[in-house]
Amino acid sequence: MTLPKNRHLGYGKSAMSLSLRFILPLFVALSLISWASIGVVEKLTESWFIRDVEARAQSIGNTLELPVGLALHSDTDKEKRERLLEVFHKATQDERLFGVALCREGDHAPFARTAEFPPMVDCSGEVLGGKATGVLQYRRAPIHTSYLKLMLDAKPVTLILVHDLSFMSRRSEETRKYIFWFFAILAVVVSFITVVIAQLSWRGWVQGLRAVVRGEGLLRPFRSSGAVTPELRPLVKDLRAMMREMEAERPIHDDANVTWSPAALKEILQQDLRGEEILIVSNREPYIHNRGKDGTITAKFPASGLVSALEPVMRACSGTWVAHGSGNADREVVDKNDRVQVPPDKPSYQIRRVWLTEEEEQGYYYGFSNEGLWPLCHVAHTRPVFRSSDWEMYVKVNRKFADAVVQEARTDNPVILVQDYHFALLPRMVKEQLPNACVITFWHIPWPNPEAFGICPWREEILHGMLGSNILGFHTRFHCNNFLETVDRFMETRIDRETSTITSGGNATAVRQYPISIEWPSRWLEGQPSVAECHRLVREKLGVKADIKLGIGVDRLDYTKGILERFRAVERLLELESQWRGKFSFVQIASPSRSTIDHYKAFDAAVRDEAERINKLYGSEGYKPIHLLVEHHGPKDVFTHYRASDICFVSSLHDGMNLVAKEYVAAREDEQGVLILSQFTGAARELPEALIVNPYDTDQCAAALQMALEMSNREQRDRMRSMRNFVKEFNVYRWAGRMLVDAARMRQKSRFREKRFFGGGGQ
Ligand code: F6P
Repeated sequence: MTLPKNRHLGYGKSAMSLSLRFILPLFVALSLISWASIGVVEKLTESWFIRDVEARAQSIGNTLELPVGLALHSDTDKEKRERLLEVFHKATQDERLFGVALCREGDHAPFARTAEFPPMVDCSGEVLGGKATGVLQYRRAPIHTSYLKLMLDAKPVTLILVHDLSFMSRRSEETRKYIFWFFAILAVVVSFITVVIAQLSWRGWVQGLRAVVRGEGLLRPFRSSGAVTPELRPLVKDLRAMMREMEAERPIHDDANVTWSPAALKEILQQDLRGEEILIVSNREPYIHNRGKDGTITAKFPASGLVSALEPVMRACSGTWVAHGSGNADREVVDKNDRVQVPPDKPSYQIRRVWLTEEEEQGYYYGFSNEGLWPLCHVAHTRPVFRSSDWEMYVKVNRKFADAVVQEARTDNPVILVQDYHFALLPRMVKEQLPNACVITFWHIPWPNPEAFGICPWREEILHGMLGSNILGFHTRFHCNNFLETVDRFMETRIDRETSTITSGGNATAVRQYPISIEWPSRWLEGQPSVAECHRLVREKLGVKADIKLGIGVDRLDYTKGILERFRAVERLLELESQWRGKFSFVQIASPSRSTIDHYKAFDAAVRDEAERINKLYGSEGYKPIHLLVEHHGPKDVFTHYRASDICFVSSLHDGMNLVAKEYVAAREDEQGVLILSQFTGAARELPEALIVNPYDTDQCAAALQMALEMSNREQRDRMRSMRNFVKEFNVYRWAGRMLVDAARMRQKSRFREKRFFGGGGQ
């Protein structure tokens, strides 16, 4: 767990937000309470005042009984009225008694009434709805009216007393003010105390928790002064256990629920792998700097499935890519540490170039890797060649690259992605120097069965080297199983088939299936002309009529790619379905590859001869059945060709995955075009909507070409749409992401295991 760098600011902010989060609701609550309290208090005081006035009225009535009785003894009504008014006048000296009147039995209007007596109050009592007392509004002020029945000289009279209640409103106003100020002051005091307590205790707790997290304060949870905070002590044990569990069980990304993109990959690196360093090591570099005949240096993007897949991943992850510097101007563009920032137009990671002597390149790359392991792993019926001198170079160069990787590592526990059969020994060599590194090796080519692999004179050394990896990836489950069988056959190890894990010498290697893919959307689509325009451009460039249907093949000039078989299928189509002569051409883009190897030289010649033979057989004026383009084409150009072609034919005799198939699908936003795919590619397992063929079966391949040429637009769209959805979802970010997620899980588990075994500090 990492601590925020601006931790003081962090405390303040958190405490402040805690305080605010408390104070605001407190203010709201107190306002509501004060508002409700004022209402209740007003009601209560009003009822008290009324009761008080009623008691006063009763007592005034009792007091007035005698003088009123005397006044009524006067002779005339006039005298009676005058004397009554004198009595009433004295009574209304009391500021609250507003008016007095007297009604005799049967009177409607009062017999005598003071000047201020409200005119609407008559003897009937209707104004109070027949009640003896009640509150009325008079001149916008409340008045209280009491009808008191008296018996004077055995004659019933009614004394009406009207009290002024405006003093009640004045008092309520005052009460309201008192209550408001009471709650306002209370709120301020409570808030102040809260803020102070929150600040103090938050600091203490945070410091204590940080100490626990760092493992420092397990026995000594502290205050800032370093003294013990007793309130944390009982919690420490539980907290430690919880932290350990959280650490071990913190959910790592579930790869099935992630939408895979560069951003998702970055997030995994930052969250699950906590920003750990990423290093890639491969033979082929992603940018090759060459000086052209005109003297300018250009960066070439090589024809390599490995590079196409890993380059977008590296751009997302940054880090360092260790690779062989093979360009003739590579040395001119590196810094003193042999590093160069790439991509040239928008640098986001660096290549660390490793230089090889001719002898090393010959033995390690051409010799052991490509004359030995390459044919060994591909069932393409080309005999592997094993020379001990090549093996020596292979060991030496693996050591050289391992040392470069260790030099580049800035930490002792980087994540190292080792690529392909060129570096079977490197995982163990790196682990010997960086035991905490997480080494993920991906084998881009097929893994053969134990019998086939067993002919390698250095089979145990190779397996031992590979088992230095923490994770070993292949494209298919089939290749994983072949590897497990091979290890079982030749090594003393423990194999857990349920978890597909091999343990040797205390080191565990998880053998996993990670089908490689391409970036989605492909950056090579940016700025592409429309499909119709690509159609026109490519035909124009090739000198082909606009109505000719085109098939495309894009490969390195390699005998495993089934290029000869492809040409024979085209020939067979033209032989059997003569309507396609002059109407269908096949374009083969073939990048020269490993051309110093005899077998490749011979293959190059065989491909050219075969194209020529077929062109002679079925070609005519202005029409060539096969357009063979033996030259490097940049990826953008390749995408334009994909978009111009009605068919893409991938006929590998054996291929780990084959990314050309996926690139063709990515290029066809128009959802048109048919993919013919060899059943011996890893891609055939993922793209069953393609026309799946056996490249050794020429008739079947010719029939597939025929079917593709006649396929309705609707069927093309249905198949293409389905393949596009698949490749979009299972893109290269998922491929890399799944490996990194597995690495993160592995790291998490081993941390947890260490803590369990070594106690992780005292309790
Ligand atoms: O896909 C297999 C592979 O050997 C990759 O490792 C490599 O990038 C690609 O073919 C091209 O081969 P090379 O690097 O030998 O040109």
